[in-house]
Amino acid sequence: MDPLRKVAGVADLRRLAQGQLPLPLFDFIDGAAEDETTLAANRADFDAWRFRPRMLRDVSAVRLEAMLAGRPAALPLALAPIGLAGLAWPRGEILAAQAAARAGIPFCLSTNSVARLEEIPRAAPDGENWFQLYFLKDRDWMNGLVVRARDAGYRALVVTVDLPLTGKRERDLRNAFTVPPRPTLSSALAFARRLPWLWRSLRAPAGFGNFEGAGGGAGLISVAQHVATLFDPAAGWDDVKALREAWTGPLILKGILHPEDAKRAVALGADAISVSNHGGRQLDGTVSAIRALPDIATAVGGRCDILLDSGVRRGTDILKALALGASGVMIGRAYVWGLAAAGEPGVDKAIALLRAELETAMMLLGETELGDLGPDMLISAGAP
Ligand SMILES: Cc1cc2nc3c(=O)[nH]c(=O)nc-3n(C[C@H](O)[C@H](O)[C@H](O)COP(=O)(O)O)c2cc1C
Repeated sequence: MDPLRKVAGVADLRRLAQGQLPLPLFDFIDGAAEDETTLAANRADFDAWRFRPRMLRDVSAVRLEAMLAGRPAALPLALAPIGLAGLAWPRGEILAAQAAARAGIPFCLSTNSVARLEEIPRAAPDGENWFQLYFLKDRDWMNGLVVRARDAGYRALVVTVDLPLTGKRERDLRNAFTVPPRPTLSSALAFARRLPWLWRSLRAPAGFGNFEGAGGGAGLISVAQHVATLFDPAAGWDDVKALREAWTGPLILKGILHPEDAKRAVALGADAISVSNHGGRQLDGTVSAIRALPDIATAVGGRCDILLDSGVRRGTDILKALALGASGVMIGRAYVWGLAAAGEPGVDKAIALLRAELETAMMLLGETELGDLGPDMLISAGAP
């Protein structure tokens, strides 16, 4: 029976994912740092903006195409880099890239993917594939990844700047989540209850595919240990400058929340920035991305593209981000829940849901062109 038949929104995909994944893996995807205050704020702050729709404006034909990092996309939407997405479903990153290509939207592969980076452009040659890079202590290995990404055919380099170390993710600590995932005495039952996932995952790769041979990245380790061993907390703006010189395609800085950092990114020649708090997984108490966006849009003043991620679950969220100055959004959990729920059709479903919601919301708002969206369409739901 089709597990997606009763799915009406992204929240339904989350429920299905919860029923499919062993709890430690579900929590790794679903969870965030410390008290998950920022995770909650990512949602609450979207909800705190309310629309002021206009009427009688002929909304019979709505256009949803957008320009993302200099290329046309079918929607103002990209799939965000998700480490270990290949644990949610075997070959998860490859399936997600194929779904994105089919939908005409960009797919961004994480440094921490299960798949080797070369596998994505091979499996989705017509897709708009982006590669996400973290700063690594071993600069030879890091520069090697950049060369491999270029040679493999990735078009854009997404440099994530908000992870000098892993935020304190307490669900992962409690569950003793490791890579590859292994049941502990206390989590054995959680794994045993998810036989279809166990069966599917039996022979699937389950490590950090891009780190084979890098040293430190193999064996049974936590994500925090992997990051502490290999990632470089000493990275600075000069390192971004060096990457800008090395990478001739579009360069996107992901994880910007302060207008001054946004200006600095522009000055260094970034083609785009992603306003993001990493889905609430890094510094808890951080401002939500949607709250940070208006000041950043003002600071950037149209000199580079702005993407936004963190908390996008609805077409209306996309509309709010665009109205406040983004040219597009990325989704993380929304598509990984789909992947965990049903594999590739689940990713198709996540994208299709957002597309349909976006179209409906545009029509109800009285708009037909994404480029016409602006802050006057929104009011803050705070006290008058
Ligand atoms: C399970 C998981 C793994 C992630 N791994 C990465 C990663 O490897 N690189 C990265 O730049 N961001 C990573 N992120 C952050 C996402 O790219 C994105 O910023 C975040 O998921 C957006 O929030 P959302 O999940 O509410 O859409 C990860 C997020 C999740 C949920």
